[in-house]
Amino acid sequence: MATIETIRKPIAADLEAFDSFVAENFSAEGELLQEMLTYALSSRGKGIRPMLTLHAASLHSANATEATESCGEERHTTKRTYLAAMLVEMIHTASLIHDDVLDSADERRGRPSVNAKWQSDMAIILGDYILARTMAIGMASAQYDLLSYIGSAMATLCEGEILQSQHAQRLDTTREDYFNIIYQKTASLLGVSAALGALSVGASREEVDRMRKFGEAIGIAFQIQDDILDYNRQNNTGKPANNDLREHKITLPLIEVMERKTAEERMAIIELVKRCDKEEGAVDELQRIVDEGEGTKYAAQTMQAYIQRALHLLYKYPDSPYRAALIELCAFIAERDR
Ligand code: IPE
Ligand code: IPE
Ligand code: MG
Ligand code: MG
Repeated sequence: MATIETIRKPIAADLEAFDSFVAENFSAEGELLQEMLTYALSSRGKGIRPMLTLHAASLHSANATEATESCGEERHTTKRTYLAAMLVEMIHTASLIHDDVLDSADERRGRPSVNAKWQSDMAIILGDYILARTMAIGMASAQYDLLSYIGSAMATLCEGEILQSQHAQRLDTTREDYFNIIYQKTASLLGVSAALGALSVGASREEVDRMRKFGEAIGIAFQIQDDILDYNRQNNTGKPANNDLREHKITLPLIEVMERKTAEERMAIIELVKRCDKEEGAVDELQRIVDEGEGTKYAAQTMQAYIQRALHLLYKYPDSPYRAALIELCAFIAERDR
């Protein structure tokens, strides 16, 4: 079983430096704001995105790749890499605070969500504040190449959330819509997390693009697994199970089941989804239908294709502790229960 601890090992010192960098840069004026900020930042998640940035940087640092040796320049993980890792993790943190407002979710990382503790209006402002601080820190550093990637990832993420809401209202999510949504809301930021790691140490255009594709492939897999875990009531995610159904979100496990049903049966399923925000009985019934139709098994098979795509991109690099850790990350994404 792949673990986060093994993945962290080769970049342990970098992760410590990154943590201090975040702590130094994030403090707020005003008691309530500081309290909310401390709350939001103290419950750190798995940290997949900064890990991706730091590993991608190390993978392209001095002596780690043949390409580096041939171009002869020294490449090192520097403050620019920590900045990139901070940018992606803070965009992610703010997006989760906003996402819990959109999804009326009252639990995050095993604790009450910010909206559950201080109401939605405060959660919106806190998310905005984190975004504003993040961009201000980025601008002060004048690393505009990194910021231009970050700006477009932020916009794409919002487009994904809006597209998802539209489909949740219309209850008409097809497989194609689903993949568009998860590319926009999740994979694009993971792609940027990996690309910025490479960019921060001066990797070539081709290497940056390859890392972006790698991050996007694991990003799609990551969101599919997140959607599978939403159908697992014993998961350890620290998030409420079945919340996607309560929000009328038709995700891959249900799509897989629906594709194997008749038109009439599909209509009956949609009728059930419509009732999920008010009736827990409808949620239970759909959980049963997905279990019986092995929706999570089929979704996991679909996810594997993206894991394989990601691994294929990694095999272009010579073996190193960073490549090994990224291979482990692929396994972790596919197996995780948190
Ligand atoms: C949750 O992301 C949102 C999704 C894109 C599924 P993570 O699962 O990376 O959240 P944390 O940071 O570990 O809590
Ligand atoms: C991912 O979608 C949210 C973002 C990318 C902001 P979800 O709504 O499935 O994420 P969780 O399950 O709440 O973490
Ligand atoms: Mg959510
Ligand atoms: Mg989810």
